[in-house]
Amino acid sequence: MTGSTLALTGGAPLRSTPYPEWPTADDRERELLLEVLDSRRWWATQGTKVHQFESAWARFHGAETSLAVTNGSHTLEIALLALGVGEGDEVIVPNWTFVATVTAVLMVNAIPVLVDVDPDTGCIDPAAVRAAVGPRTRAIIPVHIAGSVADMDALTAIAREHGLVVLEDCAHAHGSTWKGTPVGMLGDAGSYSFQSSKLMTGGEGGAIVSRHPDVLAAARSFSDCGRRPGEWFYSHYLLGGNYRMTEWQGAVLLAQLERFPAQQERRARNAATLNHELAEIPGIHPQGRHASCTSQGNYCYVVRVDADEFGLDRDTLREALLAEGIPLTMAYPPLSRLDLFADPQGFAPRIRSRARMQDFASLCLPVSERLADTTLWFTTSVLMGSQDDARDVVRAVAKIHAHRGELAPRG
Ligand SMILES: Cc1ncc(COP(=O)(O)O)c(C=O)c1O
Repeated sequence: MTGSTLALTGGAPLRSTPYPEWPTADDRERELLLEVLDSRRWWATQGTKVHQFESAWARFHGAETSLAVTNGSHTLEIALLALGVGEGDEVIVPNWTFVATVTAVLMVNAIPVLVDVDPDTGCIDPAAVRAAVGPRTRAIIPVHIAGSVADMDALTAIAREHGLVVLEDCAHAHGSTWKGTPVGMLGDAGSYSFQSSKLMTGGEGGAIVSRHPDVLAAARSFSDCGRRPGEWFYSHYLLGGNYRMTEWQGAVLLAQLERFPAQQERRARNAATLNHELAEIPGIHPQGRHASCTSQGNYCYVVRVDADEFGLDRDTLREALLAEGIPLTMAYPPLSRLDLFADPQGFAPRIRSRARMQDFASLCLPVSERLADTTLWFTTSVLMGSQDDARDVVRAVAKIHAHRGELAPRG
């Protein structure tokens, strides 16, 4: 295989058949969706599917209840509110994550403080968190990047020491565990996304889990116009909003959850093969995983490319892999580089003064910047086929490595 011409220079692509499609669905989704349609109860207030999903998602976490809402951006905002984080509070956020992790902080009028990440896992660096804690710090939001769990022992210890709350952003980490405990149940609350690329999806959707029943009760009220269960429908006790999940989403997610354990097993097996075999290729460094991360829900499969060792830079390798039929998504840019934070009008009209915020554009957070520029993010699909399908990733990288001299590095 390594002898053939690269697809990028006119050869046949290594893979001519596509990887399994994502998301997946079958007759189970169809059946549950039709039940919703025929019931004419399409909103959760009168329906059954969202409540059933909340119970099933809670059981998956060894919890009594969970809260399902519109999406995984709103879950972060609602969870922050339910944890009592608000105006003027500082919240420590990793610089390498999706924008929603930081905008949620701003949406509740709190002040994000960006810190660097661990070079091996890509998750928030506990030493950087410790250094950033100050008198106004109120919360930490670790993100379990691509399902690799942040160092929750270190983070919860810092939180205990300083009286902080920990909100886990589990958007990438369905099925991830730390010493056997599901993510979301390690900190004070956990936020999940069920957006279309996630490991379970309702097209859109989100859920909050928590060890604290009062936090979930407050979150439920914030998500349902400030109502309280059992009270008159037009009584509103909190400044909430309508963040309710629809019954359509609930129905699809019930089916997705039923299928999840078998899919997770398949992904874990394929990821283990890739970890082992890709590490043999010079310059390819699979994402690390803390020894206490007992299971990793691989939202994506991430490797770091050392251009000097591999002989090509990340972007050239990425282009060559795409040409070989290997699906990849984009690595996140660091939050500190986003236009939102460079443009003084970026927060208008929501927030008019940034006086107390860090100047993100001038921050030097080298690890997150390096990871953003040097990592490849393979989509979930590459883990959803057979072992042989997964090995095509190894074959493609090896083929490109063997032909690296034929590709000019990009400027
Ligand atoms: C780390 C992270 N946090 C939060 C979110 C927001 O989730 P949603 O797209 O469901 O709003 C995402 C989704 O992409 C994410 O990747």
